[in-house]
Amino acid sequence: MSSLDLEKIDLGKVYIETYGCQMNEYDSGLISSLMKKSQYSESQEIESSDIIFLNTCAVRENAHAKIYSRLQSLGYLKKKNPKLVIGVLGCMAQNLGEDLFHQELPLDLVVGPDNYRNLPELIGKIRNGENKINLTRLSKIETYDEIYPEVIDRIQAFVTIMRGCNNFCTFCVVPYTRGRERSREVDSIVNEINELHRKGVKQVTLLGQNVNSYRTESADFAHLIQEILKRTEIERIRFTSPHPKDFPDPLLDLMANEIRFSSSIHLPLQSGNTNVLSRMKRDYSKEEFLDLVEKIRSKVPDVGLTTDIIVGFPDETEEEFQDTLDVVRKVGFDMAFMFKYSEREGTIAQKRYPDTVAEEVKSRRLTELVELQTNISHEKNQEKIGKTYSVMVENHSKKSKKEVSGRTDCGRMVVFPIPEGESLDSMQGRLFPVQITAASSATLKGILHQ
Ligand code: SAH
Ligand code: SF4
Ligand code: F3S
Repeated sequence: MSSLDLEKIDLGKVYIETYGCQMNEYDSGLISSLMKKSQYSESQEIESSDIIFLNTCAVRENAHAKIYSRLQSLGYLKKKNPKLVIGVLGCMAQNLGEDLFHQELPLDLVVGPDNYRNLPELIGKIRNGENKINLTRLSKIETYDEIYPEVIDRIQAFVTIMRGCNNFCTFCVVPYTRGRERSREVDSIVNEINELHRKGVKQVTLLGQNVNSYRTESADFAHLIQEILKRTEIERIRFTSPHPKDFPDPLLDLMANEIRFSSSIHLPLQSGNTNVLSRMKRDYSKEEFLDLVEKIRSKVPDVGLTTDIIVGFPDETEEEFQDTLDVVRKVGFDMAFMFKYSEREGTIAQKRYPDTVAEEVKSRRLTELVELQTNISHEKNQEKIGKTYSVMVENHSKKSKKEVSGRTDCGRMVVFPIPEGESLDSMQGRLFPVQITAASSATLKGILHQ
């Protein structure tokens, strides 16, 4: 067989559906890359695909519920095409393993986040008659170093710099689904970013469960940023997330001085009460969090700050919840992701703290928190009217093809009209000075500053 024939072989069309966080988005790109290397092709259409992968999340109960109902709804495809292979990948796969096969779901394959290299081989086994394969073995070393994910977006890409987590916050399932912390080598990250830049990507977001603990023999996280600034021409570098307990000072100096290093920080608060934080095993107090924010703002005044908050953690009293509202008021986050506590199998909280806060109390607290944050976001956005920001254009606005949307250096989304003579294509990835003319709690609107 000539090499030309080899190129034409297509072992099957793979359709990937991604749930959960940016890590999973990155991993779906990795999986796609791995499958293509093994002569599979990518499919955008579920109906005609030969293999369906659901890359799943386990962080809250509703993440699991979504996948169960999705799998049930895929049963009809399996009836139509008995050769169709359906696989559950990602964190829910790692979390439930074998158990997923005990529920009469149309499911052939369960594969965890550290076992994606085996996917082509496992698909082969299923096609040869094996069924219900579970491979969920966590690794201490797998970082998929030399595999670069498919680039989906032309402008922005994620780059995972480390995998796993060693923090074991008591509410969190991630250390169990993603295993122990391990960092990728600087060279491998720099090469991947250079490759992305060559393909036209302008902005990378570095991913890790706690980027502060990025560490190789030669570098910590701040060194890594310096190396990326020095050895690549990527125009904007963002990252998520740092842990408030060990936020590295040198990062703030880099943020203040390097225009290519975005001044936006996602700083997960979780709770504003010191006792709750201690039960969560977060290793900082209310005051330490507030001090950190003050330090950040003193060095990087226009920093964009976002956060994650959980309400209704076991035994959270009304008074403790009031502390969360207090911190939210004092800090004035630009945006927050807010969740009701969801007990997860195997976590320390599940063993130590019964899920005592009633569902209706969780709901009421969440509503109260969301209302407060919406007002703050609105107010903070109003303050920006009249100011001019440098905006990197990403896409059309959701509402109109005559407008584009992009982000400021501090991570805020801005929508503005496409000027005469330009188009989305000509503008994507370029920086434009935009004066803010109107604002809601979610979006800033502006016009090109002449
Ligand atoms: N490593 C990240 C968090 C990843 S999980 C960090 O530390 O920033 C994303 C968010 O989901 C968490 O910040 C937390 O707010 C939320 N979360 C995690 N476990 C949860 C649970 N059991 N119930 C509700 N929300 C949870
Ligand atoms: Fe979960 Fe805490 Fe690790 Fe974040 S740092 S992934 S919240 S255990
Ligand atoms: Fe991400 Fe969900 Fe796993 S948040 S790390 S996909 S549990």
